Amino acid sequence: MAHQFVLILDFGGQYNQLIARRVRECDVYCEVRSYKRVTMEEIRSMNPAGIIFTGGPNSVYEEGSPKIDPAVFELGIPVLGICYGAQLMAHTLGGKVATAQTKEYGKTDTEFNIKSLLFKRLPAKGVTWMSHTDYISELPAGFSSVSHTEDCPVAAMENPEKKLYAIQFHPEVMHTENGLSMLHNFLYAVCGCTGDWTMGNYAKTAIAEIREKVGSGKVLLALSGGVDSSVAAALLSKAVGNQLTCIFVDHGLMRKNEGDEVVAAFQDWDINFVRVDAEQRFLTKLADVSEPEKKRKIIGEEFIRVFEEEAKKIGAVDYLAQGTIYPDVIESGSGDAAVIKSHHNVGGLPDYVDFKEIIEPLRLLFKDEVRKLGTELGLADYLVWRQPFPGPGLAIRVIGDLTKEKLDLLRDADFIFREEIANAGLDRNIHQYFAVLTSMRSVGVMGDARTYDYTLALRGVTTTDFMTADFARIPYDVLEKVSSRIINEVNGINRIVYDITTKPPATIEWE
Ligand code: XMP
Repeated sequence: MAHQFVLILDFGGQYNQLIARRVRECDVYCEVRSYKRVTMEEIRSMNPAGIIFTGGPNSVYEEGSPKIDPAVFELGIPVLGICYGAQLMAHTLGGKVATAQTKEYGKTDTEFNIKSLLFKRLPAKGVTWMSHTDYISELPAGFSSVSHTEDCPVAAMENPEKKLYAIQFHPEVMHTENGLSMLHNFLYAVCGCTGDWTMGNYAKTAIAEIREKVGSGKVLLALSGGVDSSVAAALLSKAVGNQLTCIFVDHGLMRKNEGDEVVAAFQDWDINFVRVDAEQRFLTKLADVSEPEKKRKIIGEEFIRVFEEEAKKIGAVDYLAQGTIYPDVIESGSGDAAVIKSHHNVGGLPDYVDFKEIIEPLRLLFKDEVRKLGTELGLADYLVWRQPFPGPGLAIRVIGDLTKEKLDLLRDADFIFREEIANAGLDRNIHQYFAVLTSMRSVGVMGDARTYDYTLALRGVTTTDFMTADFARIPYDVLEKVSSRIINEVNGINRIVYDITTKPPATIEWE
């Protein structure tokens, strides 16, 4: 694809993905590569408009700490070092890095020299996010300090002639005021980027590329109704129309109306769409199973079986498409940052599907880009903005053993919760929200009669990566409305609680 490119060299920092997302937010294409797996030769041939070094957990003086070939600074390509990347630049170019008595951590008052291109048109003072013990104590020759804090003499340094810049704090973290503008300045004012990475452009090029690759071949996609597979379906459909077959396995564990919504969203698209109604099959397999991991395993396996059976009916296909997105690629590929997330995908690759090659049309995109692309392609808003939904569906939101009755009860209650969150205009602020049917019953009183019914739990979280989460501060009047509607409209629930735990120590789902 003909667009500008920024290389992010990963030194094992926890914010490596975040840096990449911020660069993309500036409409500049970038890729994350481990510093270990890229040679100077490759960098030259990639011809990036700029290079960003990420942070990392090491100290430059430690034995075995990540190093960089000094030749990288002689390529004439602008470099921005962040945190460890900044110290590495200083150290490699003959400056000094020292260990501070006290760690500088968290929000820190910082002053900037606004003559530096990095801080162009920004205020001379602001708060930055610091997370370091080592600091640059002596500048390398040719550099000057362009930012400092009370404890840190070199919060940023530059050598504008050589286009080398370094920042001790984390501009990619939202706690750094104007951090995105600083990255924007580096990309536009230093690297000369023009912002040619937009989802409109991406759609055009990706469609052309898929067409060229697939030719007159057949493509098969497992569509779950989640954002990624839905956008992949939309993109493939624009590219190859009815050479695409989507198999949507409805396991009967979806939320209320969800199966029909997925079908409705795709009914006007020029694709072959197969909906497999497998509710009975899944419920039979799950009967009397109450252990969460066992539920997951059964659902994963059954999903593959159903998919395979349907695929066999279609016969040989040329390509199996998958909705893999860039965070999965980074997480499984770069191997330096600690393993961030264990993947919860439903099943793996089907064994017996007869295909030649896999295509992953979203492989380069972050989730927010996938949503933008979906909108660009004309996909319905309710699919594009769908909150994450676990592959095993409501099976892990009914605690303990499952029955159709319990699932229906949960579906109705969950629907009301979602409807009221949307009515209150909170649906894009709360990143995941749902109801859980606990297996606990308690005594209540309704009318004049005693009841002994289920307790329903409501969960709502805000999060950036789903690895940690805070419980959403849903206003009491919204919760009150949800509670009274559920009690009145759904039979079998007489008590409703709101989950006020963060993750950790709790998880987002209850099972
Ligand atoms: P937890 O409960 O681990 O959830 O805090 C983190 C995120 O992962 C989703 N999740 C799953 N997704 N299959 C999935 O596809 C699963 O088995 C599964 N379990 C949890 C959860 O909804 C949240 O977004």
